[in-house]
Amino acid sequence: MINGSPQNSGSSSKMLDLISKRDSVKGYECERINLGELNISHCKGCLVCKKTKECAVKDDMTPLYKKVQDADAVAIAVPVYFGHETGLLKNFIDRLYALMDRNPDNSWSVRFGNKKKGVIAIPCGSPDGNMIYHGMMTNLVVVMRMFGAADVASGIVPSAAPGTVADSQFMKDILSALDFHMSE
Ligand SMILES: Cc1cc2nc3c(=O)[nH]c(=O)nc-3n(C[C@H](O)[C@H](O)[C@H](O)COP(=O)(O)O)c2cc1C
Repeated sequence: MINGSPQNSGSSSKMLDLISKRDSVKGYECERINLGELNISHCKGCLVCKKTKECAVKDDMTPLYKKVQDADAVAIAVPVYFGHETGLLKNFIDRLYALMDRNPDNSWSVRFGNKKKGVIAIPCGSPDGNMIYHGMMTNLVVVMRMFGAADVASGIVPSAAPGTVADSQFMKDILSALDFHMSE
């Protein structure tokens, strides 16, 4: 479970709590990764990983490659920052490029492991955020599919606050979609 907020007890964290407590998730061992606690540099674009299959940058991302590969499912909660995911999450995603290999025929193979399930939960401050940040959500769903997730539950919670997110119908809809995908 990836918390893409720098806040460890904010809305994103609360959303991950709600996801991990769901009956449909019982049986999964959940590990929380708070990106705000880690030192993860941006991708340098050096492309060394395309030769060595390993990121040349050694920092707190290094042990996360294996965790991503081994995970059966991936949950991401990330707030909207100026219409996009946080820089914390973007750096994490960009660094996953080290797990993508270019084939001789120019197609790509990914070494993310076989994750079938995914969930993306996005809190934001705007009361209209559920309508205006769909592009951001769609992009994250595409990335999740590249992780190998075939079934991705996703949603945006507008006017989000840690104390009220559990009561939001938008959050309830994310959890219902999660239950549906977990049962497939
Ligand atoms: C730097 C910054 C930029 C933000 N940009 C937006 C934005 O563009 N649209 C929006 O609706 N909310 C925006 N917000 C509000 C957060 O998305 C919102 O408070 C969210 O619930 C925070 O989640 P968290 O408690 O998990 O950090 C911004 C907040 C910060 C700190």
